[in-house]
Amino acid sequence: MNKQMPELSLSFTLNSARVSATPYPGQRLSELLREGLDARDVKIGCDAGDCGACTVLVDGKPVCACLTPAHQAQGRDVETLRGLRQNEPIAARLAESFQDHGAAQCGICTPGMMVSAVALLRDNPAPDEGAVQDALGGVLCRCTGYRKIIDAVVGAPAIAFDGAGEVGFALRRVDGAAKVAGDELFGDDVAPPGCLEILVIRAPYPRARFSFGDLEAFANTPGVAAVLTAADIPGKNAFGVIPQFVDQPVFAEEETRFRGEAVAAVVAEPAFLVQFAPQMFPVSWTELPAATDIDAAQSPQAADLHEGRANNVMCGGFVTCGDPKAGLARAATTVEGRFQSGFVEHGYIEPEAGFAEIVNGRVELHACTQAPVMDLEALADILGMDRSQIRILPTAVGGGFGSKLDITVQPYLALAALKTGKPVRICYTRNESMQSSTKRHPSDITLRIGADAQGRITGFDFLGVFDTGAYASWGPTVANRVPVHASGPYRIAHYRAESKAIHTNNPPAGAFRGFGVPQSAIAQECLFDELAERLGLDPLEFRILNALENDVPTVCGQVFHQGVGIKACLEALRPAWEAEHRAAAGFNEASGPLRRGVGVAAGWYGCGNTSLPNPSTFRAGVRPDGQVVLHQGAMDIGQGASTVMAQIFAAELGVTPGALELVGADTDVTPDGGKTSASRQTFVSGNAARLAGAALRAAILAKVNAAPDSEIAFGQGEIRMRGATEHHIDLAALPVDALGYVFRAEETYDPPTKPLDANGQGAPYAQFGYAAHLAVVEVDTAMGTVKPLKFVAAHDVGRAINPMLVEGQVHGGIAQGLGMALMEEYLPGRTENLHDYLIPTIGDIPPIETLIIEEPDAHGPYGAKGLGEHVLIPTAPAILNAIKAATGVRLHRVPATPQRLHDALKTGDRNGA
Ligand code: FES
Ligand code: FES
Repeated sequence: MNKQMPELSLSFTLNSARVSATPYPGQRLSELLREGLDARDVKIGCDAGDCGACTVLVDGKPVCACLTPAHQAQGRDVETLRGLRQNEPIAARLAESFQDHGAAQCGICTPGMMVSAVALLRDNPAPDEGAVQDALGGVLCRCTGYRKIIDAVVGAPAIAFDGAGEVGFALRRVDGAAKVAGDELFGDDVAPPGCLEILVIRAPYPRARFSFGDLEAFANTPGVAAVLTAADIPGKNAFGVIPQFVDQPVFAEEETRFRGEAVAAVVAEPAFLVQFAPQMFPVSWTELPAATDIDAAQSPQAADLHEGRANNVMCGGFVTCGDPKAGLARAATTVEGRFQSGFVEHGYIEPEAGFAEIVNGRVELHACTQAPVMDLEALADILGMDRSQIRILPTAVGGGFGSKLDITVQPYLALAALKTGKPVRICYTRNESMQSSTKRHPSDITLRIGADAQGRITGFDFLGVFDTGAYASWGPTVANRVPVHASGPYRIAHYRAESKAIHTNNPPAGAFRGFGVPQSAIAQECLFDELAERLGLDPLEFRILNALENDVPTVCGQVFHQGVGIKACLEALRPAWEAEHRAAAGFNEASGPLRRGVGVAAGWYGCGNTSLPNPSTFRAGVRPDGQVVLHQGAMDIGQGASTVMAQIFAAELGVTPGALELVGADTDVTPDGGKTSASRQTFVSGNAARLAGAALRAAILAKVNAAPDSEIAFGQGEIRMRGATEHHIDLAALPVDALGYVFRAEETYDPPTKPLDANGQGAPYAQFGYAAHLAVVEVDTAMGTVKPLKFVAAHDVGRAINPMLVEGQVHGGIAQGLGMALMEEYLPGRTENLHDYLIPTIGDIPPIETLIIEEPDAHGPYGAKGLGEHVLIPTAPAILNAIKAATGVRLHRVPATPQRLHDALKTGDRNGA
């Protein structure tokens, strides 16, 4: 608190109640509402007016509460989502509509969206799409792709229902009601107001040496509870997600390797931190020469970032089959190209945040995460504690997309709680979130492909070099996955693909929807179009001709006898492909700067870990009162895992999802469902839920020898079964186990895979999912701008457990793919906020038609396949191919910014920009 300035009290109306408060000078209205008036339905994504998550109504008008000084509320009428839900019938209707459309995925943007929409609907009860885009244009969503939000606000017919919810039906999300009420608790919503806060001190340079001043004196400053450095770490000062690559320090020692790396943390009273800036911390810096791109890192002058990783090569991957040289030599024609991409930021609206306290001597940690058990294991090593002494209680996750697989705030919280013995909290600023979190790997890919005169691929030679940043994170996974996937979902008998991950003084690159596959798909799918053009073939038919099929080996020699759905996806696009081509040709008959083009691209993705164990375990039980409980440890990060698991488990048990009580995720009460990553939850955890449902049902039926097809009904203290004969179980008569259950089942599923040999031959995944996208774009050739007009997305999901959630994933993935193609590039030191780093807004996403293909997979629960990564992979190349079709210019670097495209158009460069 700034002691120089007088405090002023104010009073205003908050959600129809008169309130008074005494904000400190300069306090934001958002902070006053959240911390002083318990209005944590107001969310914070940036504190800079860029994301709109904090939108509230002041005298009926939407404002960013983070940009509004608290004193401006004096005498005004302030409304937040929670109050609107209680007092405004429009908000109540809107809440139903949001749930009916799946318009809230993670839910962190939902309060801002709904508050803005209420203001619109008060003025305009029947808005059209344009009015909704105008009114909601200031609120960012990273999950939904906005189309469902538009549908919900304009009141389009519902696609979900709130009924029985069997597998295959669009059940409303089981966690949807909390999201649309503003009651969902994210990482920064759990801590009690006023508890100690943590501020991390970070490196201002890509590479630097540092030394601390008098830390003891600083720690004795009034208001400071503790200072944390590497010296405070009782266990290992290292973390990482791949056991052989645990290389990132919690706090750097002597030298930092990227801008934003942590060196210390201040644990202090909130009032102290209000007037404290990181520059006031006693640390001095000496900037060192840094390697900030792949070429610099591999130059002879570059210092190795890590011992034992010569020339900064962290690792590589390799797959080959047949004789690629001979295949290329006998091709009727070959094409080659070099394709590059930059860092892409996950851009989830919820910054990393959490709360920790010591309870009965144990560390209890509440934070947003995609991998609670991995967090626990990492903390046990860092804290030097037995795992039983740590409990992870994940909060709701306001978007993750891969980055929240890595630990971030967790060690600071745990160390601070242990050192002070008090409850502590932390919420990264947007700036430090973007500086320090992992990113999509920048790529530099060279590729040569040959085909015979009929258009069949004869040879394929790929080299992908990836900037993995300062630490390993998921770089080894990217390096392994890319050569397996770089072929795309095609039959290629003569193939070579090599990848390398190179360390630089950049932020660690990690997991981001696709693990390197979206980058490789850009190279492969763009060159497929070039090849088709050379051969005079239609690009879609060229792909169909080469599409992988059942009983045809992949480039890893893996043969699927069933479930290969790429041809069906591509064929499903044919009607739209022909119609959109005709429409674009008609449009282009007029002269002028606007040109339209249609592009197509495909993708595939192996679900789960690559050739590694990947188990998920689910537990369920029946309490003596008859309540069925599902322990749901598969993190729902907005994609809908809680709903999908409930649907699958309930279907096996023979009840409705609404009859279940879901507990978890919580490492004390849920078995390990594994991380939410690699499109594995519906497939792997879905199978574990299926097995647990079947085992619980079998145990109940066996108790009274009921027929296997008996109907089963849970009542108060009893279970009734009706089949050929009727049975009844009085639950009060049964012994209760240690967990409080009279029946219990726990089952594990681990997908069958086989290791890859030195040539990358083996069975890396039990299943792949498949996708093909069509994009229509309009290019302003005078400005270099690209406006996507439409997407048609065909996805083979095996079986759509919940079609509404499938559509939601497709929309969100396309929005992220569009961002990657056209606007997103993270530049350390330059685009570290949501003002300079652009992600798609509600006005950027055109209509999306989703075509759900169901080619059942023998390993999937009810035939289902994973989907989370697939939804993004074809989008960027489809857009690049559409730009080429519209203009004749082939861009070789994403994002295709107006400047890049303008330059390419100006130079008439038909081969590369
Ligand atoms: Fe206010 Fe982002 S938190 S606009
Ligand atoms: Fe909008 Fe997640 S639902 S940001």
